[in-house]
Amino acid sequence: MLQGDRPWGAFLDAGTGTNSIRWVSGLATERWVAVTGATGDAVQERDASDRVRRAQDRIIVGNWADPTLLAGESFDTILADYLIGAVEGFAPYFQERLFARLRTLTRGRLYLVGLEPYVAERVETADGQILCDIGRWRDAVLLHAGERPYREFPMEWVLEQMTASGFRVVSAHRFPIRYQQRFVNSQIDMCASRLSRLEDRALAAALHARGEALRQGALAFIAREGGLRHGFDYVIAAETG
Ligand SMILES: C[S@@+](CC[C@H](N)C(=O)[O-])C[C@H]1O[C@@H](n2cnc3c(N)ncnc32)[C@H](O)[C@@H]1O
Repeated sequence: MLQGDRPWGAFLDAGTGTNSIRWVSGLATERWVAVTGATGDAVQERDASDRVRRAQDRIIVGNWADPTLLAGESFDTILADYLIGAVEGFAPYFQERLFARLRTLTRGRLYLVGLEPYVAERVETADGQILCDIGRWRDAVLLHAGERPYREFPMEWVLEQMTASGFRVVSAHRFPIRYQQRFVNSQIDMCASRLSRLEDRALAAALHARGEALRQGALAFIAREGGLRHGFDYVIAAETG
């Protein structure tokens, strides 16, 4: 809707995944480039876009911290779809510089989709408490497995960074989230392989039991209330100049 009848032109999906690549490959672009930091993800994205990918469309495995990645290229439209929260896992401490990096690649519009940090110190609602408990448990498992959890950033912070990097913000909106079973199951299930790697089996068993208790509580709540209402996604549109 924000795009109106502007042409998409050359399109960069700067943090690709099966959702964004499906969306991008259905748009009337001149060409698209989809970037991921993980080789395994690139295979999934290739599968998700296989039927509609044209000769001029590219999926690239790279890291935005590498100054040579897409150096000298520019795009009419850039999408950063849940990219900023994932940067911690690929290029920690690079988040601020990411905006300057994207600025050099943009000759038109940047759309950024993000998630307000939702694992808060103080939570006011039962829904929020359940989501925080799941988030804390998930991050604890990832840390024990030697991985870096995602780090989400508030919309205000993103707007400041964008403006400081030379973007002009056109639109910024928050959208309340209602989490469903799929989210709960995905968060708990993704920890299984991490738990199986832990050397301390007693700790792994205790964490596993805690995860299953959280799952049971959350799914019962969702069945009763129709979802877990907590937090916000945000969508920002910005232009250069
Ligand atoms: C949470 S996923 C984005 C969701 C995705 N748009 C979708 O449709 O499902 C984050 C993406 O950003 C990529 N990413 C994160 N940090 C990166 C970095 N420093 N350089 C390149 N890609 C990065 C990840 O590899 C992944 O492809």
